Amino acid sequence: MPRIKSPHLLVAESGADRAGHGLKRTMGLFQLVCFGVGAIVGTGIFVGLSDSVGEAGPAVVISFVLAAITCVLTAFAFAELGGAIPVSGSSYSFAYAGLGETTAFLVGWCLLLEYGVSVSAVAVGWSQYVNELLDGVLGVQLPDALSAGPGDGGVINLPAVVVIALACVLLVRGVRESARATAAMAVLKLAVLVAFCAIGYTAFEDGNLTPFSPAGLGGIGAGTTAAFFSYIGFDAITTAGEEAKNPRRDIPVAILVCIGLVTLLYCAVALAAIGAIGGDAVGDRPAALSYVVDEVTGSSVGGTVVAFGAVVAIASVVLAVMYGQTRILMSMSRDGLIPRVFEKVSPRTATPVAGTWIVGLVFALPAAFASLDSVVNLCTIGTLATMAVVNVAVLALRRREPGLARPFRVPLYPVTPLLGIAFCLYLIYETGAETWLQFGVFLVAGLLVYAAYGRRTSRLGRAGVTPSDDAGRAPRGA
Ligand code: ALA
Repeated sequence: MPRIKSPHLLVAESGADRAGHGLKRTMGLFQLVCFGVGAIVGTGIFVGLSDSVGEAGPAVVISFVLAAITCVLTAFAFAELGGAIPVSGSSYSFAYAGLGETTAFLVGWCLLLEYGVSVSAVAVGWSQYVNELLDGVLGVQLPDALSAGPGDGGVINLPAVVVIALACVLLVRGVRESARATAAMAVLKLAVLVAFCAIGYTAFEDGNLTPFSPAGLGGIGAGTTAAFFSYIGFDAITTAGEEAKNPRRDIPVAILVCIGLVTLLYCAVALAAIGAIGGDAVGDRPAALSYVVDEVTGSSVGGTVVAFGAVVAIASVVLAVMYGQTRILMSMSRDGLIPRVFEKVSPRTATPVAGTWIVGLVFALPAAFASLDSVVNLCTIGTLATMAVVNVAVLALRRREPGLARPFRVPLYPVTPLLGIAFCLYLIYETGAETWLQFGVFLVAGLLVYAAYGRRTSRLGRAGVTPSDDAGRAPRGA
């Protein structure tokens, strides 16, 4: 029989329904939306836009909408589960309640790809704009050896390590400080992207949008997988379940607001960039947005401002995603599936200090030495797999816990979660055979770790709690 943890037990163990649990409730709806935008908008639009435009051409707007539909379908699932089980573990906890411990462990394992590897990927993207900014402001650039990993012709990517270290410093200081910094950064990056659109549209030429779909449906499909990376992070809002003031109401609303806002913004940015200089030119440049502004204004000042926006935007993704990663590890540690050091919360700052530094250290390594392309696909497939599981968890929990309080319910049930699963599987298919293989090896490694460690140390396993007797109370010996 699978080891399943009831939603009531998850909430009771987290202490999320009582005052005085380890974490502090400081985040309202506005902070949650800022946190979401903070986690979502970064490398994907500032650096990755050239990849998705390179695949789909101007039809990249369809790719963005398809990627957004995939996210919205799953966002409904996140919203239902995040409202019903407001704990820090996000999809990991939902899988524990819906599908059992083995699946939950594998989801936690895949979240290392989504959160951890995306921190590395995003940090790598950061250093490209740091160089743009240094060039614009001081007329100097870091040497290649210090600003790129060996795969990209350098030795070590120092800026990527620095941004991760800075995020760790902020995160251990306290959630209120991190949330404040994230909110400020989110507002700033939205302002920079809106200004970018305003400048881009002054040079808009209809002719640049034709041919609209140079690579046909295949290009749109490949563009959708590339565009999907720019949406990763929306689910990080659910990791704030124990620090939100009114999680049951605000988390579902914040997720949907974020995806809607970000989709409008991405389509507007893509159209402005392509309308100004044409799809081929955008597809050729990694730091495309700065280039567009330089071309349109005929001066390098605007491009430097965009580079500044990108530096801030991408840093805030690192901050928000690392926050999410530490909270998920905290939930897994609380469940006994990984060492207990990850659940220790400092009484002074109310943050998991040791866990945060370990996460920073571990993910600084790939950030220092990997190339962006090599980690983006793996991150995408890991995220899509966890999203598919979250949709399955909605179906499973509706059957197993029909009476559970659900402040938000997935509309058009069961069509929506089923469609969510189908979209995720399609995008997984589009990532290609090499990525499937890498992902397969990663999953087998996860199963081995679970069998050798997590299964033996699991609190649920040691306490001998069964699905029928665990509702509403902590396991024996807890
Ligand atoms: N969505 C995040 C970004 O684009 C991962 O940087």
